[in-house]
Amino acid sequence: MNPQRAQWGSRLAFILAAAGSAIGLGNLWKFPYVTGINGGGAFVLVYLICILFVGVPVLLAELYIGQQSQTNTVNAFEVMHKKRTLWQLPGWMGIISAFLILSFYSVVGGWILDFTYHSVLGTFSGAPENAKTALNSLFQDPLRQTLWHFLFMFSACAIVIGGIKEGLEKWNKILMPTLLILLLALLVKSFFLNGFSQAIDFLFEPNFSMLTSESILEAVGHSFFTLSLGMGAIITYGSYLSKKEDLVKVSFALALLDTLIALVAGLVIFSIVFSFDLEPASGPGLIFATLPTLFSQMPGGYFLSLAFFILVGFAALTSAVSILEVQISYLTDKHKISRKKLTAITAAITFLTGLLSVFSTNIMSDIKIFDLTFFDLFDKLTSNYLLPIGGLIISLFFGWVLGPKATKHICGKSRLAHLGLLWITRIIAPFAILLVIYNLTIGF
Ligand code: TRP
Repeated sequence: MNPQRAQWGSRLAFILAAAGSAIGLGNLWKFPYVTGINGGGAFVLVYLICILFVGVPVLLAELYIGQQSQTNTVNAFEVMHKKRTLWQLPGWMGIISAFLILSFYSVVGGWILDFTYHSVLGTFSGAPENAKTALNSLFQDPLRQTLWHFLFMFSACAIVIGGIKEGLEKWNKILMPTLLILLLALLVKSFFLNGFSQAIDFLFEPNFSMLTSESILEAVGHSFFTLSLGMGAIITYGSYLSKKEDLVKVSFALALLDTLIALVAGLVIFSIVFSFDLEPASGPGLIFATLPTLFSQMPGGYFLSLAFFILVGFAALTSAVSILEVQISYLTDKHKISRKKLTAITAAITFLTGLLSVFSTNIMSDIKIFDLTFFDLFDKLTSNYLLPIGGLIISLFFGWVLGPKATKHICGKSRLAHLGLLWITRIIAPFAILLVIYNLTIGF
């Protein structure tokens, strides 16, 4: 027996799985576009503060609950609390969030597939305007979007049913670092574009007049979305970790990696925006209108574009699989239907719901609820409300029910860290979340 090695194995399995879940469209597609809409620097600053003071503590709480209960999210709260209680609420809300998130996530995954296909055809090797034309024609074409959305959802479903999730994560061991290297190479290229310094100013020079209560809530919401927090998804990953593992190190590493990828993607994309006179606030189509423009100007752009969209597609797929898993692990506990059937049914219903998002860019673009298309409604409802409220309850459970025993276990000898974590999870994080939601929905 070599205990050292067994531990390393579980840590690697954890890192692969958790990074696979966290790093996805949230970093590469959503972060740049919401930053663009919310005016840049000030939004980024609030987002970074949220990651540090709300995201990391909730991440620690979810990991701890998973690590100590060594079970899935359904049972974790019960095991920790020794009975069924209302603390399981984030779990139930999590099923709804997972379902709504996956429905539009898969549609965007479909857009990535379409752009992969266009890369194969060489659409982007020509003029820079080709990207915009391809995007517009995709948005106007419900049938094409539906087919790609179906293919993406079908792949996620097949992976979960085939039980090859672990296999996929092993692939990720190669693909994720490749994606990171490719992003860094694009960053080097952006450095030489004339819009680079403007991109730096846009992202890192806070202009607080751009900050509205809505953009603050958006920053809170995105910090949950990007770290896969607030619906118990990370609890399952915590169960991979040995009870001796240093959760602080692991959480900071994960948050840092996730944030780094988002920032590099943002820098590259805004350098292109300012170099080619594109619109920073152009919304969900932002990465699709910008990156191929750069590829069209680069030697080897054909292969770069192809590699990039394939890698983003994989990153999106591993995240989608993790969202689907959350639903399945809850539902299999409740129903006597086989796991296979349950996955197929869940995927089918999610696919059908996703059609509302497909139609949001074309035939149903005029149908608005609270002034939002279905696509935006599902996104905002989950990121800005369901995930933060789920995180709030998890934080309270951790701070008040598990309390000092948990924070001492996590922080070891440092009294300052242990008290800091205790009061952040008991009061500061929940209060901050409530305040931001209250301010926006009711106002002061
Ligand atoms: N974090 C992923 C991304 O950034 C999306 C995701 C995967 C997610 N699992 C989740 C979001 C669970 C919320 C909850 O793309």
